[in-house]
Amino acid sequence: MSDEQKSIKIDPKSDDISTFSNFTQIQQKQVEIFASLDFSKKTLSGSITTTYSYIDKTAKELILDLKGPKIEKVELIENEKTTPLTFRIDLNNEFKDSLGTPLIIKLPDFQNEKPDSLKIKIDYITDENCTGIQFLEKEQTFNKQHYFMFTQCEAIQCRTLLPIQDTPSAKILVEAILEVEKPYKFLFGGIEKETSYDEKTNKTITKYTQKIPIPSYLIAFACGNLEYKKISERCGVYTEIGLGDKAKYEFEDSEKFIETAENYLGRKYDWEIYNLLVLPFSFPYGGMENPNLTFVTPSLLAGDKSLSNVIAHEISHSWTGNLVTNKNWKNFWVNEGFTIFMERKIAEILYGDDMKNLESLVGYEGVLKDIEMLGEDSTYTCLNPDIYGVDPDDGFTTVPYEKGFQLLYYLESLIGKNDFQNIMKNYIDKYKFLSVDYNGFKNVYEDYVKKNVNKGEEVLKEIDWDKWINSKGKPFYKFNFESKLGDDAVKLGDKFLNGNGSLDDKNVFVNWHTNVKMYFLKYLMKNIDKVNNDVYNKLKEVFGFKNEHYNMEIMNLWFQISLKTKHDDFIDDVKKFLLEIGRLKFVRPVYFSWYEFQPKESKEYFEKNKMVYHPFARRILSMKLK
Ligand code: BES
Ligand code: ZN
Repeated sequence: MSDEQKSIKIDPKSDDISTFSNFTQIQQKQVEIFASLDFSKKTLSGSITTTYSYIDKTAKELILDLKGPKIEKVELIENEKTTPLTFRIDLNNEFKDSLGTPLIIKLPDFQNEKPDSLKIKIDYITDENCTGIQFLEKEQTFNKQHYFMFTQCEAIQCRTLLPIQDTPSAKILVEAILEVEKPYKFLFGGIEKETSYDEKTNKTITKYTQKIPIPSYLIAFACGNLEYKKISERCGVYTEIGLGDKAKYEFEDSEKFIETAENYLGRKYDWEIYNLLVLPFSFPYGGMENPNLTFVTPSLLAGDKSLSNVIAHEISHSWTGNLVTNKNWKNFWVNEGFTIFMERKIAEILYGDDMKNLESLVGYEGVLKDIEMLGEDSTYTCLNPDIYGVDPDDGFTTVPYEKGFQLLYYLESLIGKNDFQNIMKNYIDKYKFLSVDYNGFKNVYEDYVKKNVNKGEEVLKEIDWDKWINSKGKPFYKFNFESKLGDDAVKLGDKFLNGNGSLDDKNVFVNWHTNVKMYFLKYLMKNIDKVNNDVYNKLKEVFGFKNEHYNMEIMNLWFQISLKTKHDDFIDDVKKFLLEIGRLKFVRPVYFSWYEFQPKESKEYFEKNKMVYHPFARRILSMKLK
């Protein structure tokens, strides 16, 4: 086989096994994206112009990640001159279904000495196979009057929008020029520079810039008929028209969360502006930390700020994840474990140990359930999963979040909160703007403890890093997350399970924070065998569990209890719920619980409605419901 036809292989020892790109030979530094949105054709098209630095000047080709978009033209740009470059797409790659079909561009044989950098422009257009982008029909939006579009690039979906070195190891500065017809607002995860309107084409053109180097998975676009409400000098929220005031109230604490993180980490918020965007219901996650523009599910709009821990989480990513970035998806916990740690640190500082411990307890119970579902021997139960050849999203559970948090909590408990805070500060300071694996933190921790902690060497000897990172199955370390709030929930749970629940208990329940209510319901779920008909009916009689009285976190848990105990009296509400929210955290367990109870009905319902879900949610749900 000639070189021309060779399929691209991924070296299992490479720094990032989820990319085909040869980023260690020639590396992207800066990109300019032009994107034009066409709602009638459901396409995003334009160009990406990238400046690369040579690391190895013998490199003969540039390999980029690509999965879906059509490539129309590739050109070398030198000053004002453009020269077409030849390219091919490795359509039969062994990992085409998981990692895509690499784009291989032949690099020019420069006559004289090779330059240090080069600029290449590629024209692209997306189609319906591009799973990182979702186009919504008008009916799928809050107002049902305008179209909507949004992207979700983490983990490796950026390559489904445009050709790129889709690895968090090669960070880039980005300029974006976005074009869409009036009255739509086309957003980007960066800072807005200017907007102009072209009367001839009826199009609005907006320029954005991202001046902090970001990994490709943080590239984000969204477009809809939007309004903006300011929350504070640097915070604000975009929503569909009519939802702004509700969202502004719900997310009012954003500024406070930023300040708390700034104080703890000893570093100001680098990104200047913090905006949120409330997406239509199909957004498959709770939140996504896109720079300058956190995306959130509308299910956070509970009316009482009780789900704002998601905001504290996404804000924390501004340091852990977006400044200091996991260098590959095996180290995903370096993003999420640290961010859960920060989210709970914010809870500890603002609301006290009791609330923080309750959240840790809920997380702990959650990960036990996930590990049970995965099987104790699954690679996804450790902090260093084997993801060679697979889409990293396939193994998405709370393991990197909770086991990662537990490791950091353990490391904090060994030396005390003050010293640990200093280590976190040093860590961010040392690795800001870079990409790391967990050794980055290990080095900072060990260095600090040796120098500053009494009997530091002995402390370090106690830590079995290898065991924490590599052991599969249930957490081996026993934690004691003492929480009075948690005890209250368990007490009430036992009361109902023992058949002693009464109408008076409702007053206690309704005054609890959502987290306590959730822990109560999770406790019932953990003891589902004891939820007999009498217990079930009592719960229903006392609490009612009507959509209009409880938020989606609560309804999600109640529906699971109802379906797991094989009751059909909430089926109509379940069906309604499944069309009102596309967040995987809810639709997966509710659909799967329904499936165990009524396989035929649940499958039919999914089949009929599957197109309303995000491509990723559809894929995950299909695993069981197809
Ligand atoms: N970055 C994640 C979401 C994500 C992870 C998207 C992996 C795609 C691939 C985000 O920060 C997150 O963790 N969201 C959680 C919030 C929760 C832990 C508070 C969610 O969506 O539920
Ligand atoms: Zn996160």
